[in-house]
Amino acid sequence: MAILDILHYPDSRLHTVAKPVAQVDDRIRQLVKDMAQTMYDAPGIGLAATQVNVHERVIVIDLSEEQNKLLVLINPEIVWQSEAAQTYEEGCLSVPGVFETVKRAAEIRVRALDEQGQTQEIEADGLLAVCIQHEMDHLNGKVFVEKLSMLKQSRIKNKLQKQKREAATTA
Ligand code: NI
Repeated sequence: MAILDILHYPDSRLHTVAKPVAQVDDRIRQLVKDMAQTMYDAPGIGLAATQVNVHERVIVIDLSEEQNKLLVLINPEIVWQSEAAQTYEEGCLSVPGVFETVKRAAEIRVRALDEQGQTQEIEADGLLAVCIQHEMDHLNGKVFVEKLSMLKQSRIKNKLQKQKREAATTA
């Protein structure tokens, strides 16, 4: 297992649209293990392969305190979503220290493969629904801050660049 490097906004590689996984094989299972370890280490509750610069449609999520309920979604598709929306204050491992309110569908039904290549269908609401939609956006090359106003986006970019400069001077 390995901890992978996470790309940080505004890295243009985060805008890559990920390709479907052709075959769920040992290579993909290894990727899933490494992504889970990277997410737990961060720590975070969700990670898309895009964020570790692998442009294939793989997501890991774990909302449990104990980090023992890993959900693996390969080639996920939203097959239904509610008209009702919910707002949630989101964060992202690729946008450290930034938390902003985002509006998304309140309930979704998702079809995806698991790490054995079996089709699973999941109904989600609340935080799980938020998280799945957030990670699926990553696979489509979208970062959550891009749902905010241009003014907020440029403030966030400035904040992250400042953090980077400060980290460089301290190191
Ligand atoms: Ni994210």
